Amino acid sequence: MTIRLDYTNMMAPPIDGGITTSEWSGAGASFTAAHQAVVDLHAAGTLGFLDLPDNRALHEQTRSYVHRLRERGDYPTDVVVLGIGGSALGPIALRTALRKPQWNLLDDAARDGNPRLHVLDNVDPANISALLARLDLRHSLFVVTSKSGGTAETMAQYLIIRERLAAALGDEGAKERLVFVTDPEKGALRAIARSERVTALDIPANVGGRFSVLTPVGMLPAALVGIDTAEMLVGAANMRTRCASGVLAKNIAGTYAALQFLADQRHGRHVHVFMPYSDALRDMADWFVQLWAESLGKHRTPGDAGVGPTPVGALGATDQHSKVQLFMEGPGDKTVTFLAVEEGGADVEIPTLHADIPELAYLGGHRLSELLDIERRATAGALARRGRPNMTLTLERVDAWHLGALFMFLELATAYAGHLYGVNAFDQPGVELGKQFTYAMLGRADAAQARQEWNLLPKSDPTYLI
Ligand code: PA5
Repeated sequence: MTIRLDYTNMMAPPIDGGITTSEWSGAGASFTAAHQAVVDLHAAGTLGFLDLPDNRALHEQTRSYVHRLRERGDYPTDVVVLGIGGSALGPIALRTALRKPQWNLLDDAARDGNPRLHVLDNVDPANISALLARLDLRHSLFVVTSKSGGTAETMAQYLIIRERLAAALGDEGAKERLVFVTDPEKGALRAIARSERVTALDIPANVGGRFSVLTPVGMLPAALVGIDTAEMLVGAANMRTRCASGVLAKNIAGTYAALQFLADQRHGRHVHVFMPYSDALRDMADWFVQLWAESLGKHRTPGDAGVGPTPVGALGATDQHSKVQLFMEGPGDKTVTFLAVEEGGADVEIPTLHADIPELAYLGGHRLSELLDIERRATAGALARRGRPNMTLTLERVDAWHLGALFMFLELATAYAGHLYGVNAFDQPGVELGKQFTYAMLGRADAAQARQEWNLLPKSDPTYLI
């Protein structure tokens, strides 16, 4: 069980414009400093995501809650996560990776009696109305997830659901169909949990939204649908151990962060493509994009031009018929990270038919997993041939252990990259102004100043309307 990183195609040679040997040896010292900064932050108690693999008490909150539900004898047929961003993308990635394809379309037997898992991740009324019209509220469980406990989108989702539940099941019945996942002390959700005795699981205060997938944010939905969460933590712990060294060559997450940083800052590779060659891992791309973008896209000092790579998700082989043209011949401003899987699950052999038609005959006798893997290698080789840097992250298989390890790998890489870029990877001040304007327009009582600022903004000019 392991994850490997092959970064041959990031280097010069073989890539013209790749990272040179002298740049790479110089990166060692910067990485050692970045590693030390992460160690120091962790020692100061601010990087709680690193403690999650050993936080048995926290894991127990999830396990015992799921156990209690089973004992109660009314285990849900549908679990709905209300949340957005870091509170939603982990559960989505976990469902896609670790449950059977098309999970929510399968019948009970095919899901081995586990519930369907829906994750809202937005406030589009069309989607929410359609889901509510389908759900049997008596057999649904609503997991309201918010670290801050007050995010507008999540609170709006909650208010709608709470009212529907109360109308259908009464106040007490509504509370039984709700569970909160939030900060242990702060925020509106925690206050409601306390005053109304709604069950609430903790997101440790020192774990931020996008670093929270190994807390009940990801673990509760995962456990509810039958995923082995303990094994995820074992994989995450293993990755943390692999990243214990301050020596670049011995630290896989550090290597990834340093490569991406150098490619961006020294070689103008500002766009970081993340491209799984596996349908099971497709939603890992969205999870990575949020983590990389919200953590690294920042001002170093107030008012400066800002730094940070632009992450882009893609899917192999599908995007070979879409974005890969751009990756090959568009601006040379990208790195591509391929995500490969060594041992696929179920495989399908391509039949040998139409032996007389060359466009089909060569496919016969090969397996689909072989085709997918060969296409990935061919794309990596073609990019390299055109001087386009790329690297390949290989998982031995897609299972709970490897997902836990992959989450920890990318979180650690992000923490290191934050230091290399000289930004705080754990805040998101840039989203605040938009939130304030939203509050102002919705009439929130404490948003008077934002309302004034909003009113001073230039309004739509008819000259530019067409
Ligand atoms: O990573 C983050 O901190 C954000 O993307 C949050 O996850 C997102 O804004 C939702 O916040 P909250 O969990 O507080 O509702």
